[in-house]
Amino acid sequence: MKIVTLMLALLFGLLSQNSLADVARGAQLEKENCSHCHAARFNGDQTAIYLRNKRRVNSYKQLTSQVRFCENNLELTWFDNQILDVSEHLNQRYYHFTPQK
Ligand code: HEC
Repeated sequence: MKIVTLMLALLFGLLSQNSLADVARGAQLEKENCSHCHAARFNGDQTAIYLRNKRRVNSYKQLTSQVRFCENNLELTWFDNQILDVSEHLNQRYYHFTPQK
């Protein structure tokens, strides 16, 4: 019985991990594609755009929309999971919204 419980716990652990965004990949994508332009607008500080007082983004939904908007403008043709990875990275590091599924 204990073994079954253990296996189930392991399985759910793996499943929930798979459904989570890859925050490290999100950080990498943001660094490679986004930060240079934001930094250029804020005296070389690439984080200032996410932390300014009157920031554009005020919810998790707006965050994913804005990531998609900037990504579309750049014609990067990211997959949905890459949008999610970057959004999750920005949320965990700067915005701290409660994600809505
Ligand atoms: C060519 C320049 C440029 C690039 C590259 C760029 N952005 Fe932006 N981004 C902007 C500008 C300009 C704004 C601010 C718009 C405003 O203030 O109205 C902005 C704003 C944002 C914001 C909102 C900040 C806030 O106020 O809360 C997010 C989030 C964002 N960008 C994400 C991204 C992501 C993700 C990428 C990479 C896929 C990216 N941006 C690439 C120019 C750029």
